[in-house]
Amino acid sequence: MRYQGREVDIEGRVRLVMESALTARDRVGVQDFVLLENYTSEAAFIENLRRRFRENLVYTYIGSVLVSVNPYKDLEIYSKQQMERYRGVSFYEIAPHIYSLSDNAYRALRTRRKDQCILISGESGAGKTEAAKKILLYYTVTCPINDNMAAVGGHLLQSNPVLEAFGNAKTLRNDNSSRFGKYMDVQFDFKGAPVGAHILNYLLEKSRVVHQNHGERNFHIFYQLLDGGDDNLLNALDLQRSPQNYRYLVKGNCPRLSSVSDKNNWKVVMKALSVIGFTEEEVQTLLNIIAGVLHLGNVQFGEGEEGETYVTTENHMSNLAKLLGVDGLALREALTHRKLTAKAEEIISPLNFEQAEAARDALAKAAYGRTFTWLVRKINELLAAKDIRNYNRKSCCVIGLLDVYGFEVLQHNGFEQFCINYSNEKLQQLFTELSLKSEQEEYETEGITWEMVKCFDNQMICDLIEEKPKGIISILDEECLSPGETCDASFLEKLEDTLADHPHFVAHKAANGKTRRVMSREEFRLLHYAGEVNYNVNGFIDRNKEMLNWNLKEVMSQSDNQILRHSFHSEEGTRPKCSEMAATQFKNDLMKLVEILKSKEPSYVRCIKPNDAKQPGRFDEVLVRHQVKCFSLVENLRVRRAGFAYRRSFEAFLQRYKPLCPETWPHWHGRVEDGVSILVNHLGYKPEEYKLGRSKIFIRSPKTLFITEDALEAKRPGMALTLQTSWRGYRERAKYRRIRHAVIVIQSAWRGMKARRRAKRRRQAAALIRRFIEGFIYRHEEYCAENQYFLDHIRYSFLKNLRKNLPETVLDKSWPTPPPLLAEASDHLRRLHMTNMVRKYCRRVQPEWKKQMAQKVVASELFKDQKDSYPQSVGRLFLDSRLEHEQISLKVTQTLGNDKVQYAVPVIKYDRRGFKPRPRQLLLTNAFAVLVEGTKIKQRIDYAALTGISLSSLSDGVVVLHVPSDDGKQKGDVVLHCSHVIELVTKLSLMATKVNYVNISPGSIKFAVARGKQGIIDFVRGSELKVSKGKRGHLLVTAPRINST
Ligand SMILES: Nc1ncnc2c1ncn2[C@@H]1O[C@H](COP(=O)(O)OP(=O)(O)OP(=O)(O)O)[C@@H](O)[C@H]1O
Ligand SMILES: [Mg+2]
Repeated sequence: MRYQGREVDIEGRVRLVMESALTARDRVGVQDFVLLENYTSEAAFIENLRRRFRENLVYTYIGSVLVSVNPYKDLEIYSKQQMERYRGVSFYEIAPHIYSLSDNAYRALRTRRKDQCILISGESGAGKTEAAKKILLYYTVTCPINDNMAAVGGHLLQSNPVLEAFGNAKTLRNDNSSRFGKYMDVQFDFKGAPVGAHILNYLLEKSRVVHQNHGERNFHIFYQLLDGGDDNLLNALDLQRSPQNYRYLVKGNCPRLSSVSDKNNWKVVMKALSVIGFTEEEVQTLLNIIAGVLHLGNVQFGEGEEGETYVTTENHMSNLAKLLGVDGLALREALTHRKLTAKAEEIISPLNFEQAEAARDALAKAAYGRTFTWLVRKINELLAAKDIRNYNRKSCCVIGLLDVYGFEVLQHNGFEQFCINYSNEKLQQLFTELSLKSEQEEYETEGITWEMVKCFDNQMICDLIEEKPKGIISILDEECLSPGETCDASFLEKLEDTLADHPHFVAHKAANGKTRRVMSREEFRLLHYAGEVNYNVNGFIDRNKEMLNWNLKEVMSQSDNQILRHSFHSEEGTRPKCSEMAATQFKNDLMKLVEILKSKEPSYVRCIKPNDAKQPGRFDEVLVRHQVKCFSLVENLRVRRAGFAYRRSFEAFLQRYKPLCPETWPHWHGRVEDGVSILVNHLGYKPEEYKLGRSKIFIRSPKTLFITEDALEAKRPGMALTLQTSWRGYRERAKYRRIRHAVIVIQSAWRGMKARRRAKRRRQAAALIRRFIEGFIYRHEEYCAENQYFLDHIRYSFLKNLRKNLPETVLDKSWPTPPPLLAEASDHLRRLHMTNMVRKYCRRVQPEWKKQMAQKVVASELFKDQKDSYPQSVGRLFLDSRLEHEQISLKVTQTLGNDKVQYAVPVIKYDRRGFKPRPRQLLLTNAFAVLVEGTKIKQRIDYAALTGISLSSLSDGVVVLHVPSDDGKQKGDVVLHCSHVIELVTKLSLMATKVNYVNISPGSIKFAVARGKQGIIDFVRGSELKVSKGKRGHLLVTAPRINST
């Protein structure tokens, strides 16, 4: 996101940074030597460095090479905020910094997916190790974190104090001088998170274990252990706190460091060991060896009378054997004797005093050296990318950090200096090859007009050292392997004989007088690219061969100490081969390293040491000039100024930047160089800013490239959006197609099923109809296969219909019409249903109601369809009495005595003669009826005597009670009119059990008047009820018509 909003002012900002640097250049110098006006002048170059150094600006570019001057003081430029400032920002947009270089390498790794390496070079004390640590810190802080390997960053950082403790020492030039070469590959996963690392170590300066120059120290770990280890630990290791007690620590007479505390560093190292993953047991084993080496140094020898050598420090031996995990006797024997095999026979020969001391020192060096190798291997195991999925070589990229010892010229230069300077020679050659020579060659092959810059080619010096069979290393190996006593002197002699004519080799005997004065007889001189160095051959053979007696190796290979056993086991007892000689080994390692570096894109940090006194603020011009010369920095600048900062094949350039030009985006179909031409024209490159070669484009200034790069970066979100849109569109369309297809499949399946169901239903329906029709045709036949369905259906539907339409009351006479074949069953059912309903009804009926019903039944039998007023009476209840109890005279009741009045009703009695109406009460008892007028019983009619009860068929209320009048007891038939004639007659007929005596006459009723006379009542229908005298002495009753509805 750092690029957001930058596109508008990229050019402006770049210009601003560069221009402000230009305006301030008188004071602070230029931040890129390319901007130096007098770029061919070494003096101007150094002056620029000095100005910047004075202002604490320790970093300066030469194009993309970073020149760093050791400030020897802490500058506030390495904080996390500073890291953030440099993150994702191009070189030229910001002041030079080691972080900027780190970030550029990292971004190149991310964008181009190509392995990178950062080569840090410089003299001892120039700040290489510090620079490497800063780069590592930058990556661990700023890179994304792999969730599975979050601890990797910490482990990477923690490997530094461990390796420094075992591999660094105080020298005259540097209090923390790396005494081994180190190349570290940091592995990044495809997301750019560090996931592991691998370290290659080169030639540890083992001689330091047994000897230190004055003012120098042994490796830090010895002092750290003595100063920082607690009393228990020291007791267990049988150590005393003072370094003065150990011969291997007193040679340089410099037990303490002023700049750092060994005690604190001890804690740091112990913590780092546990953080990286060393077990307590491994740490203990490691410390046993360190203590063992110290004890070994204190082993002294005495010389017997017969020249035999013996150990005088017996008290040390047992502890030493314990610490090294070996048999004490065997160790003592091996230190004082040498085992030789001659013609399959073992010969043991005693060592003289010097030989015994040499054997002891050789053992100390070998033990320490091999332990260091084990340590690096172990750290590699622990730092290896564990998650195999994350460390897929294809998706992972590495950034290699090379921190090798710088070019060294000491008072006395031995085998180690020879190797160190050889490695510097080799790396300088690589640099020349990659950055200077190859660049110039490239311009030529690409046909770019170019004026060759002369630069020093040190291939010749490299050949002098490594060539076979005439190189120094070959001669040394040959000398080491030659049978019989070999010595350094004969090696020197051979060198002088073989190489005397070489322009970069000076032999003492062939040197001129002036040279001879500064060269001893034991020295030879090499004219390195960085200067002349005299090497003293003393110790060359020993150090090349590792003069460790076989019997000592044998003893160590049987050690209980795992590290020693493991380290010595592999080659125990074998004769040394040429490939195992230290120099050859180193040469081979170096070759491999050069190959590794060649396979990666390099970045360079050139470290410069401003003074030898390790003082801040001091700028020793002579010293700096020497280094500037050594690095060929001015030549580097000249090439850079004359050349082009950036080149890419047309294909790669077009591929990367084609989105910036509408004509080349998204595809360019023409010739690739034409595409590039069109692209650069579109980008508005000025003609002097770029050149088109045969297959590559060359861009002169990084600024142009950065502006292009930034424009691409600014364009990216849009491109990403386009890609996203197309991808999403494609994905959604695919999804839509899938869904659509699925829908169609589901729909067709569903429709098919529906259609099949419908067809099935239709088929069934057709079959049904067919059966129906067939059944209909045969419906009158016997129940047979043809009509079976039809008849069943008829039955079924009738029964179903019946179930729905069953009459709910006994009065409801409706009943669905049954089909003929069910007529009988229907009747049956009807009866059953009726019986059922009746039963249910009866179950519900109360006794009073029963009585009522009985009366109503009788009434129905008597009057139904007989009398007009009957239907009206059906709905009305028959009451027990139509008179209240009080309405009946008490006297009458008393007169009746035991005959209780069962029913009382007001009536009108018509005289038999004259038909005069008289209101009366008709009281019915169980045995007779009485007509009462007020308190008087006017007439008693015994039921037994009742001969008939006549009524008309009309709606009137006239009733005639026929009684015999012959006996004189009765006056004649009684003509009554009652409003409740149906009720009255029903009750009376029931009480008198004279139901059969009830007559209903349609026209007229005859009745007996006393003494054999007859009276007649005529009934007619009229508008209203009227009882009057009719013709011929008849009583005429007009009954109202009852509306049948
Ligand atoms: N960027 C820096 N800021 C402050 N001090 C520094 C810086 N770089 C180096 N130093 C100081 O210089 C000393 C030497 O640096 P360093 O150990 O990195 O040298 P070197 O080039 O690795 O030497 P050698 O080849 O001996 O290993 C450091 O201990 C530190 O005190
Ligand atoms: Mg170093």
